[in-house]
Amino acid sequence: MTADATGVTDVTDEAVRSLHATDDPRLRELLTGLIRHLHAFARETELTTEEWEAAIRFLTATGQTCTETRQEFILLSDVLGLSMLVEDINGRHGSEHTESTVLGPFHMTESPARELGADIDLVGGGERCVVSGRVLSGDGTPLPGAVLDVWQADGNGFYDVQRPDVQPPGNGRGLFTADAEGRFWFLTCVPSSYPIPTDGPVGGLLRATARHPYRPAHIHFIVSAPDHTPVTTHIFVAGDEYLASDAVFAVKESLVRDFTPVRDADAAKEFGVPVPFRHARVDLVLEHT
Ligand code: BEZ
Ligand code: FE
Repeated sequence: MTADATGVTDVTDEAVRSLHATDDPRLRELLTGLIRHLHAFARETELTTEEWEAAIRFLTATGQTCTETRQEFILLSDVLGLSMLVEDINGRHGSEHTESTVLGPFHMTESPARELGADIDLVGGGERCVVSGRVLSGDGTPLPGAVLDVWQADGNGFYDVQRPDVQPPGNGRGLFTADAEGRFWFLTCVPSSYPIPTDGPVGGLLRATARHPYRPAHIHFIVSAPDHTPVTTHIFVAGDEYLASDAVFAVKESLVRDFTPVRDADAAKEFGVPVPFRHARVDLVLEHT
């Protein structure tokens, strides 16, 4: 190990040099950056041995909390803002395209294919709602046959996989195919804000930092069409109290939609719902590859 003028060994350079035989240049770049930033963090904060041990215990518990259906490491990345940062770095498609946001941990089962106009709320879980819009290319051309994978929590803020005793599989989920003019529409209940899981290490982290665990009410979409880059996104319910303090930092202004109250009987007939209902409109715009 080399030593500086004060006799302190420069472990950082030494650790970076240990990567010299790495074949994959990108792996070498990523590990070099990781070592340099981790070491700079330890120096800057003068990390104590006890703090290092506590961090190791925390990361160990995070790994031990992961199961087939739970990913506590992704949740950790979410609450640290890293998931959203990676999403932003990789999801830049120009202002004319729908902005992306985090996938989240609840896209874990396949959404059932449903006809346009179908109701994804299988249990009558909240206020009736129509979601409609079009899937378009960046130049405004409709994308017939575009596929929309939709999932959301019920009116009490739970996904089907969290409450298998009260929600049938596929509740709040649907796989829809846009019509010949790129249009889609489906029925659901107005989603609620909900807390991310807090019974693991990430919950402890939120409590230790006096942070609330809530996400503002939203509906998830993955939209895809031939020759276009798929987008993973949400629409958020305008007026939600957590829009400005999402626990996972995933709100983008362009994704907030009014869920407008409708009392018009003809509009209700068009969608086959009783009045009153709420209506959210969203056009989803994909980037041509
Ligand atoms: C979600 O929206 O489903 C979600 C996203 C990140 C963390 C937890 C939940
Ligand atoms: Fe969600």
